[in-house]
Amino acid sequence: MKTLKADPGAKRLIESLRNMGYDSSTAIADLVDNSITANASEIYVDILLPKGSTPAAIIIADNGDGMDREELHEAMRFGSNQEYSAGDLGKYGLGLKTASLGQCRTLTVASKAKPKRGSRPRRVYMRWDLDHVYKTDGWDLLIPSDDELQSWENEILNHLVAQDHGTIVLWTNLQETLPLLSDLDIRKQEKFLAHLIDEVSSHLRMVFHRFMQGTVTGRRKLDIHVCGEKLVPWDPFCREEKTKELDIMRLPLVCEDTDGLKVKDTITITPFILPREDEFSSTATWRDASGPRNWNQQQGFYFYRNNRLLQAGGWSRLRAVDEHTKLLRIAVDFTSNLDRAFSINITKMRSRIPPEIREEIANHVGGWAKKARERYDNAPSRSSVSSNKSSHVSIPAHKNTEQTVHKPREIRLGSVTISSNEKLGTIAVSENRKGEIIISIPRNHEFHEIFSIQNENDLRSAYVVMLLLIEAVAKKKVRVSNIPLELLKKIYRQNI
Ligand SMILES: Nc1ncnc2c1ncn2[C@@H]1O[C@H](COP(=O)(O)OP(=O)(O)OP(=O)(O)O)[C@@H](O)[C@H]1O
Ligand SMILES: [Mg+2]
Repeated sequence: MKTLKADPGAKRLIESLRNMGYDSSTAIADLVDNSITANASEIYVDILLPKGSTPAAIIIADNGDGMDREELHEAMRFGSNQEYSAGDLGKYGLGLKTASLGQCRTLTVASKAKPKRGSRPRRVYMRWDLDHVYKTDGWDLLIPSDDELQSWENEILNHLVAQDHGTIVLWTNLQETLPLLSDLDIRKQEKFLAHLIDEVSSHLRMVFHRFMQGTVTGRRKLDIHVCGEKLVPWDPFCREEKTKELDIMRLPLVCEDTDGLKVKDTITITPFILPREDEFSSTATWRDASGPRNWNQQQGFYFYRNNRLLQAGGWSRLRAVDEHTKLLRIAVDFTSNLDRAFSINITKMRSRIPPEIREEIANHVGGWAKKARERYDNAPSRSSVSSNKSSHVSIPAHKNTEQTVHKPREIRLGSVTISSNEKLGTIAVSENRKGEIIISIPRNHEFHEIFSIQNENDLRSAYVVMLLLIEAVAKKKVRVSNIPLELLKKIYRQNI
């Protein structure tokens, strides 16, 4: 049969791919997928505000295997060819381009491949520039030379020189999707930046928590840093707390792969009943466990594809969100062999329960929900639970009785909550989506004395210490690990 070439129009196809439904967090997560597949152990996400002649920019850098010229050329092609190994996170050969160009108009990728057999690879750059594509309506990649890069671009991409191998993805021309990053009002810029950092961080610490915890077989433990802050993984099932794990269910399923071949694989379903508020080790951990969308919306199914979380919570139309079952979270694990059954699309943002196993799961969900409800209903009566919701400075009453010693205690100072963590460990400072700052102090720490303060003057001094601590973290002057603890302890001792 005769054939005719019918190449797609670059301008219109790219424009439609830009609207796949990514937001900044999900787009960055798509690039983190690529870094993980390339065996990275460190990923740095940086969001730069404009400064002088340097525009706003977002950078995602990794220490993965990197790419040489041919590999990068193929990687930049829409629908790039790639052989995937078991456990790899890619599928369509599109994520790098569509996720990025949904957020920016200029995507520059610089990479340096791992040396192979005595070769010393150089860093290579390639760029998709939408203004150029739209002018020519062609699929022309730009290959800037060192001289054609702006000095600030060189400065960013030069980080690869010192590295043995790795990849840097640079997004610029962000005005369309992230105009507030370049707002003329500096305060607006900074407020938006703080909000963006919060969103991106809570998304990444959730989606990649297993990789960050180092529990994925065959993968290196992953550290992700967002604007200088190392993220702490967010485990939806709070396995460090008194979570109950119910019986695991395994369901075999046959499904067609992309070549139409039948593959058989197993879906693993693990229900967890999380502790009630009064059973958590501290108020801070309970709040952190509530997750980005809060307790009620975070109940339900957690779909993991090759250990990467696709969807966090929701009942896939099997039941309705209910306050009484909010302690029930269910991990559903499958491999990329079953992508078609779970309806995985390019964005890998959501998933559905395959129709073949829907009824079987539905039969079990009722029983799991009943158990979750029993735990919820067993809560001590409201009056016996400390519920200090006041926004004033207030100290819970101290009774020197045995029973009160192990109860969670907290001090609320406006939007700052300093809570006592009955476990041993280090001080944790975190900020939730509502902008509340939570400082959790383990009982073995010297600062834990703050919980025995009896009058407000002393408390004010302690507040100063805590403010210093918060300020240091918030202004990104120091990393949490770099806080001058000795200095703070000195001030603390002088004041109390
Ligand atoms: N950070 C990186 N390090 C090394 N190689 C990378 C990196 N990012 C992308 N690549 C290469 O570029 C290819 C294309 O990436 P892209 O995200 O567009 O598609 P994919 O990951 O194969 O599939 P999907 O569309 O599902 O994301 C990858 O298959 C990989 O070979
Ligand atoms: Mg990808």
